[in-house]
Amino acid sequence: MSQDLHAKPLTARACGPLRGRVKPPGDKSISHRAFLLGLLSVGETRVEGLLEGEDVLHTGRACAALGAKIERLGEGSWSIFGAGLGSLLEPSETLDFGNAGTGSRLMMGVVGGHGITARFDGDASLRKRPMRRILDPLVLMGAQVLEQADGGRCPILLKGTPEPAPIEYRTPVASAQIKSAVLFAGLNALGRTTVIESEASRDHTEKMLRFFGADLRCEPFGEHGRKITLEGRPELRPRAIAVPVDPSSAAFLIAAAVLVKGSDIVVEGVMMNPLRTGFLTTLLEMGARIDILERREEGGEDVADLRVRASELTGVDVPAARAPSMIDEYLILGVVAAFARGVTRMNGLHELRVKESDRLAATAAGLLANSVRASIEGDDLIVEGGAGACPGGGLVETHLDHRLAMSFLVMGLASQNSVRIDDETMIATSFPTFRPLMAQLGAEFS
Ligand code: S3P
Repeated sequence: MSQDLHAKPLTARACGPLRGRVKPPGDKSISHRAFLLGLLSVGETRVEGLLEGEDVLHTGRACAALGAKIERLGEGSWSIFGAGLGSLLEPSETLDFGNAGTGSRLMMGVVGGHGITARFDGDASLRKRPMRRILDPLVLMGAQVLEQADGGRCPILLKGTPEPAPIEYRTPVASAQIKSAVLFAGLNALGRTTVIESEASRDHTEKMLRFFGADLRCEPFGEHGRKITLEGRPELRPRAIAVPVDPSSAAFLIAAAVLVKGSDIVVEGVMMNPLRTGFLTTLLEMGARIDILERREEGGEDVADLRVRASELTGVDVPAARAPSMIDEYLILGVVAAFARGVTRMNGLHELRVKESDRLAATAAGLLANSVRASIEGDDLIVEGGAGACPGGGLVETHLDHRLAMSFLVMGLASQNSVRIDDETMIATSFPTFRPLMAQLGAEFS
């Protein structure tokens, strides 16, 4: 168990039906990219609905260290005056990304494609995460890794190149972070950078680069893949960005309403980008009563209001090909599966092992601690549901992982005995308003 004196344990216990309308915060992926694209274009980028979580704020501070002038105008409302592609400053101090894998990896792409040197570091969780997957293509483009901890981990001293080589790169795993790092480096290349992924991952970088004026093409590749081609040295023009609601944060509220008996809530404005809706697809297959209302466009993305009611669920087989579209939602799906009738099998979860924690092992451990039958077979997670009932009563180790913390708090709202987590502090990295929004629906933690 964590010995951290600053850890804040929290307990969730069964509550009455959840009711009301809530709007979760802005999307984390888009918020990171808003700061980065603001940095890379000359002039003012205005952002509304930015996620003000610790991860994104770390990226903002790093952008400021590279020359952006950043100002908070109001809640979720930010102004970024960029230094511009090719004109970044060398940061005088270490870029501290805290817990943020996305922020650090995308920024490695930016630095790797510029003639500056920067040191990247973060918390104990970030220091465990593999960075070779990002550094390998950047080295092919001409960047140099001057210092690194064992196995290509932070702290990392990266020396970028002012003239990155345009490359064609096949990502070794479906990862929007790898794809984006190569594209961000390729922005400053004299020529065409191509990224090929055999499974399509979230496409926010592609959409936003195009929105800022880059010449970028996406074509299908193979059965589930994509080929992305970017012309280097575009003139990026600052734009106004409206950040849609993060489906990965909405997932916790949706799951809570599905599990707590008698619940009936509306989650407003949830982004419906098809590369992010795997969790919704899976819940619908399990029999969740979710109505998709008011489909519309906001900030260049499809969004909808979701009416979610308490539901009786059946276990399903989740295909490996769906993993990229719900990669951050398997923890909460593991919790949901504990309440379903029958077995849920989640296939092909190898990438979960290298997230903020080893999420495959940690989810199974959290389920077992709450007397749920769960096992890991190879890269698959198998959960035997309790047909509407889940014992609970466990203490869950969260390993500096915000999504583990929120997932097991949601379990406690519907399980027979309360569920305790060892530390809630990391929730602030992605969903600082989690507790007040849950309270608004009728769920309090103690
Ligand atoms: C993200 C991509 C995903 C996801 C992460 C955010 C992004 O990681 O897990 O939370 O914004 O690009 P991978 O692309 O490495 O799977």
